[in-house]
Amino acid sequence: MCGIVGYIGSKKATPILIDGLMSLEYRGYDSAGIATIEKDAIKVMKDKGRVKNLYNLDGIDKLSGTVGIAHTRWATHGKPSKENAHPHMDNSGKFVVVHNGIIENYADLRDFLISKGYTFLSETDTEVIPNLIHYYYTNGPVSVLKDESEKFLGAVKSAVYDLKGSYAIEAISTICPDEVIVVRKDSPLVIGKADGENYIASDIPAILKYTKEFYLLDDNEFAIIKSNNIRFFDNSLVEHNKAVKNIEWDANAAGKDGYEDYMLKEIFEQPTSIRETIGSRFRLGEKCSFDDIEISKEYLENVNRIFFVACGTAMHAGLVGKNLMEKLCHIPTEVDIASEFRYRNPIIDEHTLCIYISQSGETADTIAALKLAKSKGAKTLAISNVIGSSITREADYSIYTHAGPEIAVASTKAYTSQVVLVAILAMHFAEILGSSDKLEIESLKKDIIDLPSKIEQILDNTEPIKDFAKKIYTEKDMFFLGRGTDYSVALEGSLKLKEISYIHSEAYAAGELKHGPIALIENGVTVIGIVTDKNLVEKSISNIQEVITRGAKTLVITNQILPNNNFDYVINIPETNPLISPILSVVPMQLLSYYISKFKGLDVDKPRNLAKSVTVE
Ligand code: M6R
Repeated sequence: MCGIVGYIGSKKATPILIDGLMSLEYRGYDSAGIATIEKDAIKVMKDKGRVKNLYNLDGIDKLSGTVGIAHTRWATHGKPSKENAHPHMDNSGKFVVVHNGIIENYADLRDFLISKGYTFLSETDTEVIPNLIHYYYTNGPVSVLKDESEKFLGAVKSAVYDLKGSYAIEAISTICPDEVIVVRKDSPLVIGKADGENYIASDIPAILKYTKEFYLLDDNEFAIIKSNNIRFFDNSLVEHNKAVKNIEWDANAAGKDGYEDYMLKEIFEQPTSIRETIGSRFRLGEKCSFDDIEISKEYLENVNRIFFVACGTAMHAGLVGKNLMEKLCHIPTEVDIASEFRYRNPIIDEHTLCIYISQSGETADTIAALKLAKSKGAKTLAISNVIGSSITREADYSIYTHAGPEIAVASTKAYTSQVVLVAILAMHFAEILGSSDKLEIESLKKDIIDLPSKIEQILDNTEPIKDFAKKIYTEKDMFFLGRGTDYSVALEGSLKLKEISYIHSEAYAAGELKHGPIALIENGVTVIGIVTDKNLVEKSISNIQEVITRGAKTLVITNQILPNNNFDYVINIPETNPLISPILSVVPMQLLSYYISKFKGLDVDKPRNLAKSVTVE
């Protein structure tokens, strides 16, 4: 939530900042702004709306400063408006900050500052930060600090000490016009190191075209960034060295590659991203292996419960994981929504393995749920797409989906890669434990290897899905039905539809319909049924018949030859092991939501009210 960019070097900062914000717009897009140091003053330019609006601001092309900070906002405190947009300046005009996160005690801090004579221009929580920095700069322990730079750092540190909540902060000042100070806690921030210049961003892809050398800032770590050097400090302001990390991502992978939208590109990337997820983790006839984790038979034999904990789409991947773990490893497995798990005092001990799934690795609730399990003595394993993300740094073990950058807010390729990785993990555990028949595992491996070409077959024939989308895109309500694993993917299909098409939809376990929701079915309502498990075909079809009888229009996604054929539309997909069938059946649903959103003329990649990375509670 909210995107941050910064630059310090010899080039004009403004174009670099706006360009970086454009690629971070998926993190928030209700307002944007930049601040640059111009001779002896700081110039702030900001506005409501999309980042591109910044180009229309009067005088923005005249900015020539080579030091600057920038922000694209996802509103938490205060409506989207020019006043609430970042950057925010203190009353003296000497300190300017951008902030990602939430300051939970901002009301108290604001009252304190008002009592000291400060005034506020915005409704944001952030505006307390530059004013606190000013307060501590003018009231701080001047004598022990050597120079203006350290005095500025001391003021930032004192201000941050007062903050409760989460933050990634960039601060600049007229007092030290040749530096940017950054600090983070529970919100991501990276520094890109280049020759004679340095870049700052909320995440790596935003500045990947300038450098491959990154410092991943830790919680409660400060940095003073100049064009030629970067100094790191802990939360007592003791200076330390930090290792640079080489990031091998391809900068072009973060572009649209000729596709109209990132979401469409990412849907079509799934054959490739799944191949990357499989990587060298297994081959036919060989056991699965993970370079990144070492889990012993002795440990697994003592695990009596597994939890998958995640949010949104990642949680839906966990639902598929539950089935896999229980079937292959015979370990009772639960799936929890991270925001519930963290407050429900779950029964966890050293015999519990908690697996956290997060594309971004920065989801606040998932991180908090992970910290909780660690504090209760459980082992934690993170599944993420982002190397070095917060969740992977907290967990005991981390494994990566390697799906490449996912930019569209609606998750697609991350989901399919998460399910593939969980399937490989479950096979790995089963091989360690000897809990499954070898031939069964071998056959599942073959099915996983075949997934990319089967997805290609689905992607080669998108017209029927587009056709159906054209017929239903004006509707107000839809239903998704499935049994077993088909139910878990129905939840994902319904979520995708809601988030990018703004059509209300519900997913139900098909057998549950008659216990209430069937009252909502009336003439013309669209029902999408997913039928991929041959053991459940007849049951699922009976439930779909029940809605047809009540006038529903039906689309059935199936890999079976269905006994009757009175459905309005049928999308045939290739057959695979039912344990992993969501990886195929989700693809037509991703496309359906995509086309509906396009027919409605909506912004597919940046749906209203949403952000890619939910770093607030
Ligand atoms: O980065 P994460 O995987 O932790 O994100 C979790 C959810 O916020 C995310 O999956 C969300 O539900 C997507 N927008 C769904 O498309």
